[in-house]
Amino acid sequence: MTAPSLSRRGLDAPASPIRRLTPYADQARARGVTVHHLNIGQPDLATVQPMLAAYRSYDESVVAYSPSEGYLAYRTALAEHYNGLDAARGGGPITPSQILVTVGGSEALLFAIAAACDVGDQILVAEPYYTNYRGFSHLLGVEVVPVSTHARESFAVPAERVRAAITPKTRAFIIPSPGNPTGMVLSAADLAALGEVCVQAGIFFVVDEVYREFVYPDEPPAAGAPVPRAPSVLAVPGLADHAVMIDSVSKRYSACGARVGCLVTRNAALYSACLRFAQARLSPPTVDQHAALAALRTPPADMRAMVDEYRARRDLIVAGLNAIPGVSCPTPTGAFYLITDLPVADAEDFCIFMLRDFDLGGETVMMAPAEGFYATPGLGKNQVRIAYVLGRDRLARCLEILRAGLDAYNRAAR
Ligand SMILES: Cc1ncc(COP(=O)(O)O)c(C=O)c1O
Repeated sequence: MTAPSLSRRGLDAPASPIRRLTPYADQARARGVTVHHLNIGQPDLATVQPMLAAYRSYDESVVAYSPSEGYLAYRTALAEHYNGLDAARGGGPITPSQILVTVGGSEALLFAIAAACDVGDQILVAEPYYTNYRGFSHLLGVEVVPVSTHARESFAVPAERVRAAITPKTRAFIIPSPGNPTGMVLSAADLAALGEVCVQAGIFFVVDEVYREFVYPDEPPAAGAPVPRAPSVLAVPGLADHAVMIDSVSKRYSACGARVGCLVTRNAALYSACLRFAQARLSPPTVDQHAALAALRTPPADMRAMVDEYRARRDLIVAGLNAIPGVSCPTPTGAFYLITDLPVADAEDFCIFMLRDFDLGGETVMMAPAEGFYATPGLGKNQVRIAYVLGRDRLARCLEILRAGLDAYNRAAR
């Protein structure tokens, strides 16, 4: 009897750099050490009240399939929401038939890449990049080609650099704004310039806007003012055939387990392909769509409180990191992640040290080594990604632990 063999694709599937060090964290916990998780974007804030109320009041007798494209009532409410974000400027109001409800933003990304690319094609990403773009591309036999961005340039994405990386195999440029892992936010002018490159090259421009509300302009908005938002690709004129917007309730409403996202495009052919993919998986989550519909009624003051909290955390962690000798951390303007240099040669080795060999009063910190967020070998070697998804007291403690850990690590290396 011979054992069944795995596909090349299965054998080569990349492990998430965010979770790769989990066995070390498990061992630390087994030793009784408390591990503070700065490695993963799981917010600690309560899910918004209208969603929780919708879950509690769900009383259908059958949890049925929903239409493959999602409930019309939800898509209609989403269309209204996007049109409130000035989407009409980008080629007319968004209609429910341009919105496909998906299993998280993740499935929307998978569908977009699958509809745009054949095996052997390429997608462009700005590195450091959201690593699951690689995971989905790997699944589909698509190559990820990086366009490098740098902390010293505030992770700006120059349109000319993107243009220079386009090859005859490029099918799409995919970028999150606000960015994970950099916290960089594209302005409307950036979106227009990058969009023009995509139009000229005849490729899709996929903008992943799952952190749209998490932006921290230099001047915080006045009390009671509406929540500012990162500009949406849907509002950029001239991109109707090229723009694909990815969205999700996960972060906006602190509801990562709801697994509801969507893909929005005015390109009817791309929409039709994605809908046919969606028909094969039958239905997005039913109960969660009811909760996601309710989430759209979240009071602006509650959204504002959430964004203000992330801003305060960002200020605390960036100031605290830059106060550590040898640490250089740019100030992110969106999302809840940052990439920082550390005074170590090998950040992965340091992250393992923190979990395996170090604790401060029985506590340690888990971070994601940044090398895995780059496709270019050697980049990010002395960097980590930090998700500031813990309360301010815990973040302050994490900074103490990190500072002490760096001291101990560099003393041991001497
Ligand atoms: C940039 C970005 N896009 C998409 C997602 C996917 O989120 P979900 O599938 O939970 O909607 C995430 C999750 O962390 C993300 O950071």
